Amino acid sequence: MHPATPQPSASVIEMSAELWNSAADVLETNWSGDHMVPSRRLYPHQWSWDTAFTAIGLAYVNPARAWRDLRSLFEAQWPDGRVPHIVFDPATAESGYFPGPAFWGVPAYGKRPVNGSTGIVQPPLHAVAAWKVYRRAAAHGAACVQQAQAELAWLYPRLVAQQEYLIARRDLGGGGLASIVHPWESGLDNSPAWDEAMANVPADLSLLTTFRRRDLDVADAAHRPTDRDYARYVGLVLSYRAEGYSDTGLLSRHDLAVECPSFNAIRGAAELALAQIAGVLGRTAEAAAHRERAHRITTAIVAHLWNPRTRTFHARDVRTGKLSPARCVSGFMPLLLPDLPAEQVEGILAEVRSERFGFPAPSYDRTATDFDTMRYWRGPVWINMNWLLRRGLLMHGRRDEAEELRAAMVRLVHRNGHFEYFHPATGEGLGAPTFSWTAALALDLLADRSVPAYAKAA
Ligand code: SER
Repeated sequence: MHPATPQPSASVIEMSAELWNSAADVLETNWSGDHMVPSRRLYPHQWSWDTAFTAIGLAYVNPARAWRDLRSLFEAQWPDGRVPHIVFDPATAESGYFPGPAFWGVPAYGKRPVNGSTGIVQPPLHAVAAWKVYRRAAAHGAACVQQAQAELAWLYPRLVAQQEYLIARRDLGGGGLASIVHPWESGLDNSPAWDEAMANVPADLSLLTTFRRRDLDVADAAHRPTDRDYARYVGLVLSYRAEGYSDTGLLSRHDLAVECPSFNAIRGAAELALAQIAGVLGRTAEAAAHRERAHRITTAIVAHLWNPRTRTFHARDVRTGKLSPARCVSGFMPLLLPDLPAEQVEGILAEVRSERFGFPAPSYDRTATDFDTMRYWRGPVWINMNWLLRRGLLMHGRRDEAEELRAAMVRLVHRNGHFEYFHPATGEGLGAPTFSWTAALALDLLADRSVPAYAKAA
């Protein structure tokens, strides 16, 4: 027998209402007509994985916008299937963001009037988001369900093409994992997970004289990547751009190729969401193929990215074959995969509960000598990674831990605001304020106690 569910106290209800309203306001403020911007000043265009996270929150307050946002992104998909990490808004001047459209030099694909895009990708979380928005449609009535079915049918082949690009063009290591060729592709830009691999990338500081960083005009330099890292970011774009962003022979002419556990776990989670979507679209044989692909991705992650000594997952430098020594939150993301063997599940849980992390998990090991409480992905707490971690905990039946993490995230955002990231000791908000995915995921954390499809029983 389950004990009676405790009722929330008046203060919890009040806190939830306040948080809900402030989150909905952020999503209203950051809506730009046909897409969401992550934040007005620092990120004034459309970002790829941000779109997935924000659709998850829009599903509660404005599902039509959730679909519009996903559609806007996929209208800029390249003919080869890649979904660019930024789609440039023609209403924002070139000077509004660096590196902007002129720097990337990519034409506008599709009919939507955009100012081109970048040539790199980001974690393919969109199938997971589309499935969540679809599942939520019933709560908004029959017309919404009808729209959701039509949008899913439109998105499905595009989501499949996105996955196929990643395996056909980006399996640079040949073991079934997609490589990232720029830290921005991971979404975890200056994570210590790339430090060893990035040491081989020249840091030409003169590039920052030719091209001026714009992020430091609108954000505190202590919260952002260093100039050395930024010079490497710019150099890597120039290298990829030189051959028109072609992936052919990339390993022999480009300085960075890394297999990230988070990026690949999200690829696997996307295959499982595609299996669900294929199911409702009546494509039963394809559903089975997606499940099989998710299983293969899980096997490849365990085979190539698990370190039995640290008992967690690490990024692998494809050029040297070496695992990064850094212990990062990205190493927990394979929990998203239901077929992850018990040894790996237990290892991750021990790591999460250790003094190195805790709830909510910081982006990097708290005990590392270079742990940095302020700087972007080198210490601060990010809500999107913790949201994914909670989903992974639920996937493996860890409902108590998932609830503890949910409550910790809700408290953090309620006390400190919808910031881009948070100081891991004080909770102080860092980076951009009124950040869309923090707000969107706060809505989901307040509303959604459901267990993801494929989750194992506790
Ligand atoms: N996150 C990057 C930035 O800081 C781009 O993806 O601009």
